[in-house]
Amino acid sequence: MKTVGILTGGGDAPGLNAVIRAIVRRSLPRGYRMIGIRHGWRGLLNKETVELDAKAASGILHRGGTILGTSRTNPYKNAEDVRTVEANFKALGLDALIAIGGEDTLGVAAKLSAAGFPVVGVPKTIDNDLSGTDTTFGFDTAVAIATEAIDRLHSTAESHDRVIVCEVMGRHAGWIALHSGMAGGADFILLPERPIDIEAVCAAVLRRRERGVHFSIIVAAEGAILPEGEVKKGSGKDAFGHELLGGIGERLAKEIEKRTGAETRSVQLGHVQRGGTPTAFDRWLGSRYGLLAADMVHDGSFGMMAAYRGGVFMPVPLASAVATLKTVPPDLIDLASSLFA
Ligand code: F6P
Repeated sequence: MKTVGILTGGGDAPGLNAVIRAIVRRSLPRGYRMIGIRHGWRGLLNKETVELDAKAASGILHRGGTILGTSRTNPYKNAEDVRTVEANFKALGLDALIAIGGEDTLGVAAKLSAAGFPVVGVPKTIDNDLSGTDTTFGFDTAVAIATEAIDRLHSTAESHDRVIVCEVMGRHAGWIALHSGMAGGADFILLPERPIDIEAVCAAVLRRRERGVHFSIIVAAEGAILPEGEVKKGSGKDAFGHELLGGIGERLAKEIEKRTGAETRSVQLGHVQRGGTPTAFDRWLGSRYGLLAADMVHDGSFGMMAAYRGGVFMPVPLASAVATLKTVPPDLIDLASSLFA
């Protein structure tokens, strides 16, 4: 009997359990033994595993997070850990491994694949910044949560004649800000892809007030960049070298109030955007990614990532899929700005 491992790495995303469930349900009837690797790559370092039988995959489709747990462990931080991961891959008797993650997790998967290990990748991130696929699961849910928050912020901003800055997630790409800002009717959208022009933001706020509209909603990605750079939450970097971002909303709110005299507040949605049950689309998308990944293992299609392109699911080379991030192109930013009232 062949054994297939599944791991989930990096930030959790709604839809992860839909992927796990689909992989297990597609593979068990084919006679595979399925094992879950706990806590991302850390589980392969420490041989933390759990049997994934039919019962384990039941009743999880609607649950947020990941039943396997996750981490931001990077085994390629030191040679010893690389050797341990490679040794444990064999010690656990894995005939294949399906790694579900973003650019960091899949970057490790690509290195293992290049070292000759049978690995398949599944793209996961609420940021939707993986270039190898049109849409990652988790993104739709994050946009839905952010949009619902922006709708609610409209009523309180209007009641108080206030400006409210809503900070959403999106470290290197502003897809959540762009989609939730457009869906939520933001009056200004700030993304990492375009340096913040605070004068233009304040002018937009004042123009509305001159027209008698005394409230504004501004959506800002956490990775949006002020002239002095990104706003970081704490010191230090994670195992993949990422700074922890957060606080741009508060910084902008103070600056806007100072420059315009308009009472301004800020809201940081943070991890709320990753929590709770996935939308129907993310449950469907996660299930399709899982079914394709299971078929890729069955067909021996290793070193590849399950992708969704132009409405079609297909394997794409893992190394190229993680080589560059998918950021918001300037024409889409300009198009969105034509909606600002
Ligand atoms: O990568 C997804 C993401 O949610 C980013 O949008 C965010 O900056 C980061 O993860 C937060 O990481 P953590 O959950 O480790 O704080």
